[in-house]
Amino acid sequence: MRDFDETSITDAVLERLSATPDPRMRQVAQSLVRHLHAFVRDVEPSFEEWQTAIGFLTRVGQMCDDKRQEFILLSDTLGVSMLVDAINHRLPEGATPTTVLGPFYVENAPELPLGAEVAQAMKGERLHVSGQVKSAGGGPIAGAIVDIWHSDEDGFYDVQRPAEEEASLRARFRTDAEGRFHFWTLLPTSYPVPDDGPVGDLLRATGRHPMRPAHVHFMIAAPGHETLVTHVFVAGDEYLDSDAVFGVKQELIADFPKAPEGHRVLRYDFALKAKP
Ligand code: BEZ
Ligand code: FE
Repeated sequence: MRDFDETSITDAVLERLSATPDPRMRQVAQSLVRHLHAFVRDVEPSFEEWQTAIGFLTRVGQMCDDKRQEFILLSDTLGVSMLVDAINHRLPEGATPTTVLGPFYVENAPELPLGAEVAQAMKGERLHVSGQVKSAGGGPIAGAIVDIWHSDEDGFYDVQRPAEEEASLRARFRTDAEGRFHFWTLLPTSYPVPDDGPVGDLLRATGRHPMRPAHVHFMIAAPGHETLVTHVFVAGDEYLDSDAVFGVKQELIADFPKAPEGHRVLRYDFALKAKP
């Protein structure tokens, strides 16, 4: 086949891809071409706009290294990460909703005893966190690993501070015989997603802010259950309705009231989906 034009080029590419041996690969490649061509027909880019798009994607790639993943950030800020998350977590009634992992998770954070302090002499409002881990529709889970991490008073994670060598505001706990966990930390604040790269440029060009509402991240793993990746958001935060990565779910918003002793308190229970 030759002489492809505006009307025949899509079918020609789809036909070429029809020989893809792996059926899933064929489905993905053909769907990509169908949607990409429809997008180009819809937008009718000038040649300069096409070059700008190529330049943008090139800069996204160039921004990536072992600490920075600009492509995931692009996916996050376009709502793609939350869509993939939703498709992959069609949860049973009663299970805690999931949300994005984000770039600041670190594997093998120090395991601390229940009741430990994770903020070591840092400044901020003291926060006591406690809760129970259960199986959705079932009983408490003893020995579940509760991984937690969050930003400091200035909105930074420990890994964003190069001088900081020790883990702070992150730890792992193991639930007790009743599935309970508790620890001391600081109240997190809202913070911007990294916006000094091409994704930040795109946010600005589309009139968007880079802020995420204050939250504590939780990753909870237990045998026989799907690992839960979620956050608990601070009720009343000004960015709950405009989270830069679309990660907020009503059920994940909690009050962090002040105790009579002056510190803040978060009490939140989690329910994990049992594996089939
Ligand atoms: C976070 O909550 O840590 C996060 C999630 C997505 C993009 C950037 C940060
Ligand atoms: Fe976060």
